[in-house]
Amino acid sequence: MRRPLIAGNWKMNKTPSEAKGFAQELIKALPVKTDVEILICPPYTALSLVADIVKNTPIKLGAQNMYWEAKGAFTGEISGEFLKDIGCEYVILGHSERRQYFGETDETVNKKLHAALTGNLKPIICIGERLSERETNLTFDVIQKQLQGGFMNVGNIENVVVAYEPVWAIGTGKTATPEQAQEVHKYIRNFIVDKYDKNTADKMRILYGGSVTPENIAVLMKQPDIDGALVGGASLKLDSFLQLTKAGS
Ligand code: PGA
Repeated sequence: MRRPLIAGNWKMNKTPSEAKGFAQELIKALPVKTDVEILICPPYTALSLVADIVKNTPIKLGAQNMYWEAKGAFTGEISGEFLKDIGCEYVILGHSERRQYFGETDETVNKKLHAALTGNLKPIICIGERLSERETNLTFDVIQKQLQGGFMNVGNIENVVVAYEPVWAIGTGKTATPEQAQEVHKYIRNFIVDKYDKNTADKMRILYGGSVTPENIAVLMKQPDIDGALVGGASLKLDSFLQLTKAGS
């Protein structure tokens, strides 16, 4: 049985004090036990503050990115070791905004994936096609290329989570239909069966992301290969994030 994961990707939102306030309110509002795993990914500058608040609670902490080297002359970068030391359990890698605005490629995502696993972080690898690619029937080719490149020479993927986020659905209010999402999730799981084995594929969680809201999460989560959601906009407000965590169970 795969435990659903509801992850909030805050992107470049919330100052450290806003993040602190949100985390405090979230803890107060959450039931002591939940069926779903709940993860929040604040900006780097809020991680330490939020880590202190969520320690010993069911809420997990993740970062939105990391660099693949452990330390050294890489101005402006943050390594996995730093994230682990702060209390992060997860790290998002290869988000489409990183690919689009910061030149990330399957190759850099792969390097980060290796580094994250070496550093005992649980990576959430983001993949997804652009609208033009969907419209020209290239969705599965793109997904296959991203998976092949991202997982290059990665032996053990037990702790890896994949997030399927069609680029055209991110922040646009246009969600993939449950059928569109399921079709790609199934493709991803089959890829894992072929590259690794069925047992690994059965255990791996595949999240859907792209305009997930409290209104549409339930139908998405009903799909057999959708194991949770990576949520941007709707994770920023306490009410809607709480509703998402409830709908996910
Ligand atoms: P969105 O973002 O929920 O605002 O569409 C999702 C994401 O980018 O992870």
